[in-house]
Amino acid sequence: MDTVTLGRTGLDVSVACLGAGGHSRLGMRAGASEAQAAELVRAAVGRGITLIDTARSYGTEDAVGLGLQGLRDGVVISSKARCTRPGTSFEGMDLMDAGEVRESVETSLKALRTDRIDILHVHGVRPQQYDHCVEHLLPELLRLRDEGKIRFLGITEGFGVDGGHVTMQRAVREGVWDVLMLGYNFVNPSAAELVLPQARANGLGVMCMYAVRSALARRETLRILIDRLVEQGEVDATTVEGDDPMGFLLEDGVAGSFTEAAYRFCRHTPGIDVVMTGTGNLAHLDQNIAAIQGAPLPAPVLDRLAALFGRVRSATGDPEKE
Ligand SMILES: NC(=O)c1ccc[n+]([C@@H]2O[C@H](COP(=O)([O-])OP(=O)(O)OC[C@H]3O[C@@H](n4cnc5c(N)ncnc54)[C@H](OP(=O)(O)O)[C@@H]3O)[C@@H](O)[C@H]2O)c1
Repeated sequence: MDTVTLGRTGLDVSVACLGAGGHSRLGMRAGASEAQAAELVRAAVGRGITLIDTARSYGTEDAVGLGLQGLRDGVVISSKARCTRPGTSFEGMDLMDAGEVRESVETSLKALRTDRIDILHVHGVRPQQYDHCVEHLLPELLRLRDEGKIRFLGITEGFGVDGGHVTMQRAVREGVWDVLMLGYNFVNPSAAELVLPQARANGLGVMCMYAVRSALARRETLRILIDRLVEQGEVDATTVEGDDPMGFLLEDGVAGSFTEAAYRFCRHTPGIDVVMTGTGNLAHLDQNIAAIQGAPLPAPVLDRLAALFGRVRSATGDPEKE
């Protein structure tokens, strides 16, 4: 497994991160038991993955903690505390106070069966919530860090509602976060221009989420997404060629699948340290680990992707959410 230093944290981690959230939640969303999800965690570690991401709100911290029994010391755990109160909308302004964020972290530590969370992110921070996070939650998180319960601090965005990275553009400029978890993929590569150069300059670790979403996996859904982006004026119709506009990703041996192309695209973007992959399926995990460690896409393919999607600011890769 290829490894990378995660920015100024100095943590040495695998380039592939197992995500315990997303649509699969380690398979638990489709009915996998906690024990089965824990087995997937162990299988990932057996394949060389040393970075695992979960969150209080995913309901998978217990499975991660169970899976890491006896393996904890070789693995970097990333988890998250919401800034909105549990049970309320991620979009709202019903926000946690310092005591509640401490309680969330303490509960995560118990579920994860550990005495420290290596990277604790504030989860899905919307632009209008950012000031509250910095003014009211950050001081408590710094106290938790001083107590040794957290090693590094991170922040994640709500890519589905903030495709132009308003939150991350603030976070990257302020010296308080060690790690950013942001949405980035070939249909919305805007972070490469808006966030990643500054993240690199400031030595922040960057974890890439949304590398593969449902629209990116299949020809038909990609087509629907492109049509919508043309309608919205974010893709120039003259750059969309023929009935199979993304066929070039699979031609001449460029990539074996759209998901493979999508992971390779993210992995080789300067400024991205780690690419996240969430699954409940071991065969998918193997394919994705191989793709994340695959070669860069050829330069003419990257040029074509840039011509098509270089102006996109709203897409996530989920056609139903655009
Ligand atoms: N704001 C936030 O903080 C936030 C938001 C989103 C995600 N995340 C984190 O990022 C991680 C990754 O999330 P993501 O949004 O990038 O999506 P993801 O969880 O990686 O989703 C990928 C989806 O595609 C399927 N899939 C995976 N590999 C496949 C393959 N080789 N072929 C076909 N289908 C495949 C998976 O289903 P199967 O189970 O069938 O494989 C899964 O439902 C999450 O687990 C979570 O840890 C954080």
